[in-house]
Amino acid sequence: MIEPLVIAIDGPAGAGKSTVAQKLAARLGLNYVDSGATYRAAALKVLEAGVSPEDESAVVEVIAGAEIRFTTDGDRCAVWLDGRDVTQDIRTPEVTLAAAQVSRLPAVRKKLIALQRSLVQGRGVVMEGRDIGSVVFPEAPLKIFLKAEVQERAHRRRKQDQEEGRASTLEQTAYDIGRRDQLDAERKISPLIPAPDAVEIDSTRLTADQVVEQILKLAQERRLV
Ligand code: DC
Repeated sequence: MIEPLVIAIDGPAGAGKSTVAQKLAARLGLNYVDSGATYRAAALKVLEAGVSPEDESAVVEVIAGAEIRFTTDGDRCAVWLDGRDVTQDIRTPEVTLAAAQVSRLPAVRKKLIALQRSLVQGRGVVMEGRDIGSVVFPEAPLKIFLKAEVQERAHRRRKQDQEEGRASTLEQTAYDIGRRDQLDAERKISPLIPAPDAVEIDSTRLTADQVVEQILKLAQERRLV
């Protein structure tokens, strides 16, 4: 049997990971997995339980009792919390901040990494996140670290907010992105650093399609597709 292919795409918020990973999955006939959605579902559970995301022991207890599931079919995916589809509910600014906080806790990461590993099915996955190449799938044959300048990332995130009907300002968005970069990079466990064998792509002046073409070329050169 041919082993399923794993393509890991890591990088900071707003670097274009979701768009690129979705397009790449569609081009290659692989499933798309947004690992951040699993941390967001955990954060939603914590907020709904009325627990502070900074109260470590309470958070760990609440998450231990949470049933988080992830379904993926081609470039579409959904995340479920205790049997409820929360794919839309996890996109609020409150959940975004709480996700950065709960993802610092080892017990939370352990549970969600096990879930992420279980999602490699069929022909394979394009999985995006922060530690997919470094921790979740250190053996992945193709790892991309996607980055972009902060101002450009803030512009993109704001455009996405506008398209999806969320109010935001460029200044606040840039501030939030900077704050999250800091939380993700300073985290003791699985900090946001490229895997040693990751290929870095700076998307500041590239379109998503141009990034996808570069990754496809790498996949072909490595005879993965
Ligand atoms: O990619 P995102 O914004 O949906 O991620 C939400 C949070 O989850 C973010 O603060 C970083 C964290 N995260 C993580 O720690 N590891 C991952 N593999 C994916 C996301």
